[in-house]
Amino acid sequence: MDTEPQITIRPFTPADMLGVAEIERAVFDSAGYHPLFIRQFYDLFPSLIWVAWDAEERRVAGHIFGGIAQDGEVGWILNFAVLARYRRMGLGRRLLERLIAELLATGVSRVQITAEVENEGAIRLYERVGFRRIGVGENYYGDGADRAIFEYRAED
Ligand SMILES: CC(C)(COP(=O)(O)OP(=O)(O)OC[C@H]1O[C@@H](n2cnc3c(N)ncnc32)[C@H](O)[C@@H]1OP(=O)(O)O)[C@@H](O)C(=O)NCCC(=O)NCCS
Repeated sequence: MDTEPQITIRPFTPADMLGVAEIERAVFDSAGYHPLFIRQFYDLFPSLIWVAWDAEERRVAGHIFGGIAQDGEVGWILNFAVLARYRRMGLGRRLLERLIAELLATGVSRVQITAEVENEGAIRLYERVGFRRIGVGENYYGDGADRAIFEYRAED
């Protein structure tokens, strides 16, 4: 009988860089983060990248990147992906909840995230975690796709 793999949510280390870049390519194709950017991001914000780590297979199964707006008021989930074969095991939710906690611990009171308006799976996940839709950004990344913007508030 198959059992689900034991996956740990832990901070990113530079040894994860190529694993994360591989997921970026697999999930987002040419729009994925480049290893160079991942490394620079880590140098600047080491506590704001988390990975889901499959210890048995010694590979990254998913990752999440966060950021804090310059005014210190709003945290952002910038990028978030789980490899297709690890989906619907709760990893996305665990990554999201871990990074929200990390962002709130820095003192922000709100956390925002976007999703393509058709991305029903991601939107359902955000809503289950406690995000509320606050608007839509048209052609948000200049690729013609509109993105719904969601916000999580600390007091919710
Ligand atoms: C969005 C994503 C990160 C979710 O990861 P995941 O590990 O599969 O999510 P979880 O297993 O934690 O899902 C938790 C809940 O969210 C909802 N959900 C997640 N994916 C869903 C889907 N495809 N369809 C419907 N509901 C979904 C469900 O309520 C799910 O609970 P359930 O499995 O008990 O029904 C993953 O699908 C992914 O990498 N997608 C491509 C990249 C992407 O869209 N990133 C986010 C926007 S940048």
